[in-house]
Amino acid sequence: MTYRVGYFVGSLSSASINRILATALIGLAPEDLEFFEIPIRDLPLYSPDHDAAYPPEAVALKDAIASADAVLFVTPEYNRSIPGALKNAIDWASRPWGQNSFDHIPAAVIGASIGSIGTAVAQQSLRAVLSFCNARQMTAPEAYIHFVADDYAADGTVTNPRTETFLRDYMAEFRDHIERVLTVLPRSTD
Ligand code: FNR
Repeated sequence: MTYRVGYFVGSLSSASINRILATALIGLAPEDLEFFEIPIRDLPLYSPDHDAAYPPEAVALKDAIASADAVLFVTPEYNRSIPGALKNAIDWASRPWGQNSFDHIPAAVIGASIGSIGTAVAQQSLRAVLSFCNARQMTAPEAYIHFVADDYAADGTVTNPRTETFLRDYMAEFRDHIERVLTVLPRSTD
């Protein structure tokens, strides 16, 4: 059984350390996880005025989540919270009312910062949002990554053995979490 994981990168930066982290995580994940990015860059700002007719970018977002067995959020911390672009994407996906794309979906949260706090505060904000959206979050292990550039090669390979082991274990736990959730709550293929 292969699980399809849609991943969100919460940064729009062309030099994003969280995109490097996402690449590293994909490289270290168990072989039965398959990854595709769920883009957030081109979404307009959400308004309930769109609920009757979502724009194509938002339809694509909801279709992508529907096609995923699980979602992974790899995000920076902005001003001790979630980057606006990511929150906007979550707001789109959670609506229209009654069509929340995150309902019961297996999910995990991770993030990197250049400071030692490692996105801990942003992750708590994101967890609260995902909790309200009824996602089935992996609660442990937590992963607050203090990004050290020397730990990663240009292609996203992790060169620090301790970091590699930590990230590999994190993804193995996520794989088991997905399996546990889907055993009880299979995803609809409608
Ligand atoms: C930051 N940064 C930051 N770092 C942190 O640890 N806590 C914070 O609250 C913030 N706030 C913040 C706000 C804004 C608007 C920016 C642009 C940056 C620094 C941040 O960790 C750093 O820029 C990372 O490189 C962001 O991740 P990406 O975009 O490189 O993936």
